[in-house]
Amino acid sequence: MGIYINEQEKFFSLKTNNTEYQMQADEYGVLKHIWYGERVENNMSYLLEYPDVGFSGNPYDAGNDRTYSLNTLPLEYACSGIGDFRIPAVSVKHSDGSCALDLRYKSFKIKKGKYNITGMPAVYGNESDSETLEIILYDTSGKIEITLRYGVLEKYDIITRSAVIRNLGQKSVILEKAASLCLDIPHFEWELVHFHGRHAMERLSQRSPLINGIQEIASTRGTSSHQHNPSFILCSPECTENSGECIGSFFVYSGSFQAQVERDELGQIRAVMGIHPGLFSWNLKPGDIFETPEAVLTYSKNGFSKLSYNFHKVIREHICRGKYKLAERPVLINNWEATYFDFNSDKILEIAKESAELGVDMLVLDDGWFGKRDDDCSGLGDWFVNEKKLQGGIYELAENVKNMGMRFGLWFEPEMISEDSELYREHPEWAIRIPDRQPTRGRYQLVLDMSREDVQDYLYKVISNILDSAEISYIKWDMNRSICDWYSGFLTAEGQGELPHRYMLGLYALLERLTSDYPEILFEGCSGGGGRFDAGMLYYCPQIWCSDDTDAYERTKIQYGTSFIYPVSSVGSHVSVVPNHQTGRITPMETRAITAMAGSFGYELDLSSLSEQDKQSVKLHIKKFREYAPLIHNGKYYRLSNPINDNYALWEFVSDDETEALVHGMVYRTEPNMKRKSIKLEGLNPDYQYQVNGSSEVYSGAALMKGGILLPKAWGDYCPVEFHLKKQEG
Ligand code: DGJ
Repeated sequence: MGIYINEQEKFFSLKTNNTEYQMQADEYGVLKHIWYGERVENNMSYLLEYPDVGFSGNPYDAGNDRTYSLNTLPLEYACSGIGDFRIPAVSVKHSDGSCALDLRYKSFKIKKGKYNITGMPAVYGNESDSETLEIILYDTSGKIEITLRYGVLEKYDIITRSAVIRNLGQKSVILEKAASLCLDIPHFEWELVHFHGRHAMERLSQRSPLINGIQEIASTRGTSSHQHNPSFILCSPECTENSGECIGSFFVYSGSFQAQVERDELGQIRAVMGIHPGLFSWNLKPGDIFETPEAVLTYSKNGFSKLSYNFHKVIREHICRGKYKLAERPVLINNWEATYFDFNSDKILEIAKESAELGVDMLVLDDGWFGKRDDDCSGLGDWFVNEKKLQGGIYELAENVKNMGMRFGLWFEPEMISEDSELYREHPEWAIRIPDRQPTRGRYQLVLDMSREDVQDYLYKVISNILDSAEISYIKWDMNRSICDWYSGFLTAEGQGELPHRYMLGLYALLERLTSDYPEILFEGCSGGGGRFDAGMLYYCPQIWCSDDTDAYERTKIQYGTSFIYPVSSVGSHVSVVPNHQTGRITPMETRAITAMAGSFGYELDLSSLSEQDKQSVKLHIKKFREYAPLIHNGKYYRLSNPINDNYALWEFVSDDETEALVHGMVYRTEPNMKRKSIKLEGLNPDYQYQVNGSSEVYSGAALMKGGILLPKAWGDYCPVEFHLKKQEG
């Protein structure tokens, strides 16, 4: 298995098929980080350097040895207050007001299977596919103990991390920071790739050199956010899609987070990721523990594509759960861009009828079906049907949809409350707001205090009432604002710093209850599109609405960034109308379909108002998607272009047995007398012969990977590209 220990030398090595992670406790009991990279079968501590650097202090027990400094050594879980002036992973305030922690090695434990984290999403594994190493460290004061947990998924090249902080003292301590990941990389040059954006323009990839100092990616919005995704990649400057070293990490958490990368005075790198400390303090009472969320790591020596492969596989197979984790997803029609709030049963049934005829599997009724909800100013919290709009209620509508041969899904935004709602009139104290201050509104709404059990119980009750009242096969779980004004009437003054994390624990508890009590329902996450697109939500919802931007051109950039960390099966994507509602852009129907196929696939427009020609295209695209879906969702995914720099966006899916591949994408702009470009394919079997699009064109895998395939002659902008390759037998 993957954990190797030399007890005498206090040396720990976590080995996966292609990677190795090493730590060692030294003569002072300091746990040093030794190595993360390719498998080396050698204790890499010979690379440790002990320079005497000015203004780098020395621990007392090192005596007069000025070369032993915590400020220069690679450390496994760095603390503040004891002479390491780089970013700490953990900070506490003791009852006497002092803030130091000095962690030393105590013991270790190995367990079969993967550890769980109480009340939080995490990678899961069983005794045959994973192992856990726990390293227990103690603070020299004797009052704090920290257990570093490592999950090893050998075949996946995945290592997970989480820490448990325990108060062994007689008095409370305040935990001011408790990161999940701390990774020191003392050698070589590295660059940073991260995914930033804004509403309707999420997860744009950005690659930058590391400056001397600290680079930070973070969210203080109470959600993982549109602005920064809780993930990053460190790569060698020469790293490409299929060559060069890279280390990636994503956070299994959906709230505020902070990821910092520091390049210190010696050119050494430290990466730290965890709950955002600016919105966190935890009153750790005597005997209490605090468990951090999980950070997941992988390493690739063969560029980004292998890194993404490792992440896609672990997310699909060890984070997503339930009936739909690997199952084919229904092709759905969502009414939002077709009607917004302006609908009634007749209009929805008209769309449903057309959808059923064109081959759609499921109709999803979006915002506006409940309470008093004719615009976004009111109604949130009142999760009972608006009979004025839907005569006969949800039951009758779902039955009618079912009779047309489709399933039925429903939108909720459970965490929110409108001031103009029955719920707010009854329970104003359930909204998060600071007494004696006016609250900040976001989309006119306030946020429910999800840390309260009565709020969770209310939501469980009203949501399950609806779910029990009709045949509902899908829920879209939306969340449409950033959170501020943090205050809970339920917590003491000292406990207010716990609210942002308690909110997450409450949300996760409610999601856990609903997903386990309604295992047949497909949950899709959403937060104004991809404002909470993270592995925490994927634990409950195997797909997340990727962005409110449904414009196919913009989507190629959004989906490109998303693909570095998250699998295609997790990407909620729909074909919408042109001119597009977010950009006014006009793209061909086929291009829109191809782009939406790199995800869950569905429609978000009034199918009943399409031209006859477009309706025929919809039929064809649904049929195609059904044919391609196993390859798209289960195959290996390759990025063939960088749509931020190139004039085309191209991606490829290859089946595990390499007998089938699909290249999809678009050429953005056409120019006169344009020379056709050849694009090198990836992941094929060099010895196989592949037939292209069922035609007489047949090329070897070697030719397609070394010489490439010519893009079609483009005519007009956003010209669709599709090459379906099948191994030719005989
Ligand atoms: C934001 C979502 O991203 C949209 O798809 C839609 O559901 C609206 N909310 C409804 O208010």
